[in-house]
Amino acid sequence: MGTLLIRDAVVVTMNGRDEIIRGDVLIEGNRIAKVGSDLEDSADRVIEAGGRVLLPGFVQTHIHLCQTLFRGRADDLELIDWLRERVWPLEAAHNEESVYYSALLGIGELIRSGTTTILDMETVHHTESAFQAIAESGIRALSGKVMMDHGSEVPAALQENTQQSLEESVRLLEKWHGAEGGRISYAFCPRFVVSCTEELLTGVRDLSRQYGVKVHTHASENKGEIAIVEAERGMRNVVYLDHIGLASPDLILAHSIWLDDEEKRIIRERGVKVTHCPGSNLKLASGIAEIPELMSLGVPVGIGADGAPCNNNLDMFQEMRLTAYIQKVKHGPTVMNARTVLRMATMGGAQVLGMEDKIGSVEAGKLADLQLLDLENFHVYPSYDADWYSRIVYAATRGDVDTVIIDGRVVMEGGIVRTVNRSS
Ligand code: GUN
Ligand code: FE
Repeated sequence: MGTLLIRDAVVVTMNGRDEIIRGDVLIEGNRIAKVGSDLEDSADRVIEAGGRVLLPGFVQTHIHLCQTLFRGRADDLELIDWLRERVWPLEAAHNEESVYYSALLGIGELIRSGTTTILDMETVHHTESAFQAIAESGIRALSGKVMMDHGSEVPAALQENTQQSLEESVRLLEKWHGAEGGRISYAFCPRFVVSCTEELLTGVRDLSRQYGVKVHTHASENKGEIAIVEAERGMRNVVYLDHIGLASPDLILAHSIWLDDEEKRIIRERGVKVTHCPGSNLKLASGIAEIPELMSLGVPVGIGADGAPCNNNLDMFQEMRLTAYIQKVKHGPTVMNARTVLRMATMGGAQVLGMEDKIGSVEAGKLADLQLLDLENFHVYPSYDADWYSRIVYAATRGDVDTVIIDGRVVMEGGIVRTVNRSS
């Protein structure tokens, strides 16, 4: 088992006590073995941090790797038109190779900007290629094929037969869930109620219980989407998902902007998780999610960039700032402080994925998913009494990410991302 010592870092731990310590981190294999000062340096390898900032890798809880190649081709529309006119035709045009390169490009950008774990939603076909890119790149990921067996607007190439959709999902799950020593997991991805029959959603409910895997979907993102669900199912999104029996601690809802009181109650009582996508919510003119209210109800909330066309660069630094800025404008300057936002981007995401005992903080026993930031640019005075949370959330950029470690492996160094498993 290889050992790696990171020496003399400012460690922003994000542990339960929110400790920030000047010290060393020892990694054994894929786990953090010790966090402390003056750790022995007989490690196989030493990274001299020299006072740079070490923090947990970011956890993004809503990404579409298959959409990275659509960037710049899907602008200035609202959700349903955007899907119908741009995204679905582009997804229908994907092939094995284009999904692979779309995923690899997206993962490169994610790692480059400090993200070490993602919850990803693919398209209907060629999901195998995305898993291949995930395996080769070294990123930690939960992913799955999107499921769509309903909707007059869905192109024929993306319309699935219900049974085939379920069977293909199970085939991928059995191949990839737990792969790469547990770094890869499967998640069922019924796209949203608009594109799924009740039969499909019921099947997903049963299979997710049988295999114990997460269900990742979009809900209550846009008023047009909600109107379609109400017209077809006679209920609001979350009420309908609960009616089917899908509302559980394993359900992760992306966006959740337009929730009524009953939907909020169901989310809270059933232990459903939410992903905030601020860049996407602004760009698609979807609305402003009531994140402070959800958090005050005790709902775990993570952050995700959504697909690249919704965000442009899959960059958690941008998403963190937007998370804070939007709520400041709406509710005042203190409602969403820098520490809260950084917590959402790390431990909050881990909680959404049910992985709070494995990732999200720099603590002995956790998996070694870390990023080293060089904030030298902001060291105006060496003695300056830094508020590290403010520096990271409001001032740092992805250009400041120097080194990224996932599962104990250095996947980026000196700004250069390496794929670690490429066999050919
Ligand atoms: N709702 C259903 N599909 C999508 C998608 O691909 N992106 C976003 N933002 N919302 C969706
Ligand atoms: Fe999305």
